[in-house]
Amino acid sequence: MFSLLPPRSTLVVAALSLVLSRLSCSSLTVPDVPHIATYFGTKTRYEDVNPHLLRDVLSVNKSVLKPPPTERCTPVHLTAVIRHGSRYPTVKNIRRIQKLSELVRREASRGSAGSASWLQDIQSRWENWYTEDMDGQLVMKGRDDLRQLAQRLSVLFPSLLSEENLRRISLRSSSKHRCVSSVEAFQEGLQQLWRRSEVQYSHEVDDELMRFFEHCRGYVEGVEKNRTALLEVEKFKHGEEMEGVKRRMAERLGLPHHRLTPDLVEAAFFLCSYELSIKSVHSPWCFLFDENDAKVLEYKSDLKQYWKRSHGHVISSLSSCPLFHHVFRTLDRAGRPRRSTEASPEPASILVGHAETLLPLLSLLGLYKDETPPTANNYHTQQGRSFRTSLIVPYAANLLFVLYDCQRGPRLQLLINESPVRFPGLEAEDAPLYRDVRATYRHLLDGCDFHSECEGRPGGRGPNTEL
Ligand SMILES: *[C@@H]1O[C@H](CO)[C@@H](O)[C@H](O)[C@H]1NC(C)=O
Ligand SMILES: *[C@@H]1O[C@H](CO)[C@@H](O)[C@H](O)[C@H]1NC(C)=O
Repeated sequence: MFSLLPPRSTLVVAALSLVLSRLSCSSLTVPDVPHIATYFGTKTRYEDVNPHLLRDVLSVNKSVLKPPPTERCTPVHLTAVIRHGSRYPTVKNIRRIQKLSELVRREASRGSAGSASWLQDIQSRWENWYTEDMDGQLVMKGRDDLRQLAQRLSVLFPSLLSEENLRRISLRSSSKHRCVSSVEAFQEGLQQLWRRSEVQYSHEVDDELMRFFEHCRGYVEGVEKNRTALLEVEKFKHGEEMEGVKRRMAERLGLPHHRLTPDLVEAAFFLCSYELSIKSVHSPWCFLFDENDAKVLEYKSDLKQYWKRSHGHVISSLSSCPLFHHVFRTLDRAGRPRRSTEASPEPASILVGHAETLLPLLSLLGLYKDETPPTANNYHTQQGRSFRTSLIVPYAANLLFVLYDCQRGPRLQLLINESPVRFPGLEAEDAPLYRDVRATYRHLLDGCDFHSECEGRPGGRGPNTEL
């Protein structure tokens, strides 16, 4: 979003955000946010991507909807692909946190004169409250993320996410606990807004759609189980930038350098992120990193997502073909002219999944594809990259397809995390004609067959020629 601004307005924005941050510092309602909060990759809070929400979590900017003003457009359908909200760490990270906290308590330079107050806080006041049974479940804050998103979307699309439409909105979710809790919270948000006393849930679990990556053999064998697929990540983990972060962290803790590993460094960084996203606190662990350290750790996460879930391997994006076709079939139905006797199509389709669901689909659509792939050796030339998972897939990340009925025919607009994004190849307009979008993705609409891409055998069904 910011990179699109010409330099002069960047200054204005910088000045404005300085004023705003002054204001927010003096405001009691805005919590103290760590200076590294925008670098947590997939563990970033949604409101650190959209900081206006820190002041008012229900604020909606209606000018993000941008059909041509002369064509009298009305939104007729919304498909939203949404990531679950804030969650607990998974068991793997809980074990690393355990190891790190024991190490720091036992061996960091305890109570030595001049030891920093945050270190004393870690050693005497901070308690490791994470337990293995929390394993990746949605937290209270994560429920709020989805409730509030639902309420904002209902304000943005009052004719689609409306009380009258309640039974006509389709809702699907991955089977994972955190996603089911999220799709429930989304429904709670809508029904609370409509002041319904009793919340009713109706959603389907559909892993073939929302966890397609597990069902695609070509992906599982070519990437997931392929020991060399993430080579760049391994190299970067042991490269000079990560070594630097590790050395500075060891110095701040008064530990011998060799006592830390890249995984323990990352555990401390994640601790800072979890305490913020789960409890809204500025954890003492955050003081182990300056902004440059955070950028290195963010890059490490971006490398992993790029090579595991995005443009790094074509099969990663192709594994999302079932979801791609599902979205376009829904849009086709919603945009098709109807006889007055026909039932009207669904006003909204809500699809709740994971970062691993969103990234391949975004990649398949051709988004966030920088000219040079990020590798272990080009950290310094990648500072201006568009592929930053902190901005793309924070908790409650969402990809919205908004279909409008306009004088010249249906139009389609994309929003990512409630900001407009243009279709690659159709950059002239925010909401191009739907038929032009279809023409741009013709090769995928006619192909992108799950069976041939994932199983390496001829299509299990014909090409999608439905219009
Ligand atoms: C609202 O959205 C528009 C379009 O993206 C943007 O230009 C504008 O700055 C936003 N306004 C606020 C107050 O965020
Ligand atoms: C594993 O990944 C490497 C590196 O991306 C790739 O060249 C190779 O073809 C992959 N192997 C398989 C079996 O897909």
